[in-house]
Amino acid sequence: LNSVPSQSSIEKITHLQPPKLLLVEDDEDLKFIIEDVLLSKGYEVIAVTNGIEALEKLSGFAPDLIISDLMMPHMDGFTLLQRVRNSPNIGAIPFVIITAYTSNQEARRARELGADDFLVKPFTADDLLTLIRTRLQRSQSIYIFNTREAHLQTVLMLANVIEARDEETHKHVERVQKLAVGFGQALGWGPDKTGILEIGSVLHDIGKIMVPRTILNKRGPLNKTESELIRQHPYNGARMLTGVTHLAPAIPYVLYHHERWDGQGYPFGLASDHIPIEGRMLALVDAYDAMTSNRPYRAGMPHDQAVREIIEHRGTQFDPTLTDQFLQVIANHTGA
Ligand SMILES: [Fe+2]
Repeated sequence: LNSVPSQSSIEKITHLQPPKLLLVEDDEDLKFIIEDVLLSKGYEVIAVTNGIEALEKLSGFAPDLIISDLMMPHMDGFTLLQRVRNSPNIGAIPFVIITAYTSNQEARRARELGADDFLVKPFTADDLLTLIRTRLQRSQSIYIFNTREAHLQTVLMLANVIEARDEETHKHVERVQKLAVGFGQALGWGPDKTGILEIGSVLHDIGKIMVPRTILNKRGPLNKTESELIRQHPYNGARMLTGVTHLAPAIPYVLYHHERWDGQGYPFGLASDHIPIEGRMLALVDAYDAMTSNRPYRAGMPHDQAVREIIEHRGTQFDPTLTDQFLQVIANHTGA
């Protein structure tokens, strides 16, 4: 069996690959400065000096964002933009134009060709970084939104496979999903964050696929090896999602849902707000559903008793502030 994962492997999982940027700028000084600023912020940058070189790079490299000057020799920014937008594989990549001035005509033409933003010279490093950050976040949320339904179906299928192996979790995933989304909304989370929450809550136990059925469904107490194997499910689940771009944002739910406020949880034994909020909130939802649902060998606890249990573990197992907020949600949820 693997032991508990190291800090560096957590880093690898929780920090996704750095965004990749293609910079197209014929002014060597400006190109060097921009590249330097972007590299210093951890972006991966490929820099070229005109549209033709950019297209060559793009044949083997799909950046998350293209930043291009307009006036350049050989192929200008307009032509590059047009060529990018007409290519099926790279056509949707956000495109930011750097320009010395914006005439209305020029801006309109760039918009018509599908430019996403303008960066007007002279600009500061802050202007540049803010624009890139905003644009990358925006394109990620559009991507998540557009593909949300399709992903959710795939994800539900995966979750159903896990449920089918586990006698205890009948409909658990679906209830956790509904309750978690209600909780997220009550916390004031927007559609982006709630969309990721929805995927995270459905997939939170996906790592259990690595646990043999006999252990998963064992009635008696588990021996040390067996319980160690079960305790690896958050980490194994997170590892499974690491390479999947559209599911990776849900990793914190998978990885941290068994951490405890007092540091006695797993896999890392993180305490208090060192536990990402995704884990702290899902821990409440997961525990409430586990307590109130029926099992093959016992009936579920009544709502009031589960509430008392949660209150009793407020500040030890659960984040105290989130506990109070969650209790309000389930009070409304059950109509009690
Ligand atoms: Fe779990």
